[in-house]
Amino acid sequence: MEEVFKKYESEVRSYCRSFPKEFNYAKGSIMKDTDGKEYIDFFCGAGALNYGHNNDYIKSKIIDYLNKDGIVHSLDMYTTAKKEFIEYFENKLLEPKGYNYKIQFTGPTGTNSVEAALKLARKVKKRNNILALMGGFHGMSLGSLALTTDIGSRGGAGVPLYNVTHIPTPYMFPDVDMINYLEIILSDDHSGIDKPAAIIIETTQAEGGVYVLSNEYLKGLRNICDKYDILLIVDDIQVGCGRSGNYFSFERADIIPDIVCLSKSLGGYGLPFAVTLLKPELDIWTPGEHNGTFRGNQLAMVGAKAGLELVTNDNIQDRVANLSNKIQEKLKTFLLDYPEFELRGIGFIWGIDVKDEQLATNISRECFNQGLVIEKAGRNNSVIKLMPSLLIEEELLNKGIEILITVIKELNKYQVTRLKSQ
Ligand SMILES: Cc1ncc(COP(=O)(O)O)c(C=O)c1O
Repeated sequence: MEEVFKKYESEVRSYCRSFPKEFNYAKGSIMKDTDGKEYIDFFCGAGALNYGHNNDYIKSKIIDYLNKDGIVHSLDMYTTAKKEFIEYFENKLLEPKGYNYKIQFTGPTGTNSVEAALKLARKVKKRNNILALMGGFHGMSLGSLALTTDIGSRGGAGVPLYNVTHIPTPYMFPDVDMINYLEIILSDDHSGIDKPAAIIIETTQAEGGVYVLSNEYLKGLRNICDKYDILLIVDDIQVGCGRSGNYFSFERADIIPDIVCLSKSLGGYGLPFAVTLLKPELDIWTPGEHNGTFRGNQLAMVGAKAGLELVTNDNIQDRVANLSNKIQEKLKTFLLDYPEFELRGIGFIWGIDVKDEQLATNISRECFNQGLVIEKAGRNNSVIKLMPSLLIEEELLNKGIEILITVIKELNKYQVTRLKSQ
């Protein structure tokens, strides 16, 4: 089965190594391989499938659009699909929340949105430096990669990654007031840190191992940015679009970023789509100054509007809050027997830090054997990351968690026995 991939596909491939089966069907939270075996999906395309696979409502809108020969590619020309997406996004999502952003359509992946945010922040503030948090992941193209901290990703750059200063994230030094730390490095004329154009954060570091930044810290960052004339960029590519409970992950802290990066589940159906939201006064771009052939992914815009309709009409937020509590309770109770592990998360993103790379790999692998797709994240890839669809049936959610619990029990028993016999 794997021969053709091994022979012809670059060694750079990665997720297929964790989940080495050929898939040919997916619906909701179930994927099937070519042998007909079913898997519960707790991976969700790394956050690109918040509404599950092949959601009927979104699919019907896309198929209607195709059947009518709606325009599919148009760069950034005016189209009906774009108009309808913009109107819905502004009037039904942003305005009720009191947000005033212009929308920049970037190339269709997350890293394109981050690149646009960086360019704009530097252009507006006429400064090179950007502050980013240790443990953050912001993409793989060179500007974004300079922000991203994991050594494996950075290793592929081939050139120096600069114009970024990384600062510790609060969980790294729990006894230090990290807002005070920032205040000091920004005001001290001997800190050696160039005044930044922006600070970029994920409100919950996802690839970094599911670390939820506190509301207090987020508010503190907003204040610091205001005080020192620095832009606050929230990269909501993975934990936005409802993943953390609210549509935007920063709502919980009652802060308003200057720039917001969105992608992944924004497209609704798993189609590539990204935007950068900017406060209107920042919109100093000249026409075409930042562009890209695939900014106008019309099918994704149709999917995005349908996805937004689901989120804004169907009380998904209440559902996520309710089920999130249940996930937390279940895992917390289970982990009472495993005090060495740590549970972290919010909404529909949870991480079990098993503090051991090999154990995490074994857990993910064995879960897969037992029909659960679940990935690892964080330092040494030692965090098992649960990211079910926001629309997963409760029964499937429970079944997935049961598989995970059973696997951890089994592997841990084995690990303990092995250690004793050494
Ligand atoms: C927070 C965050 N930012 C940016 C990206 C990059 O997105 P993409 O892989 O679509 O370029 C990711 C991808 O995982 C992400 O999680």
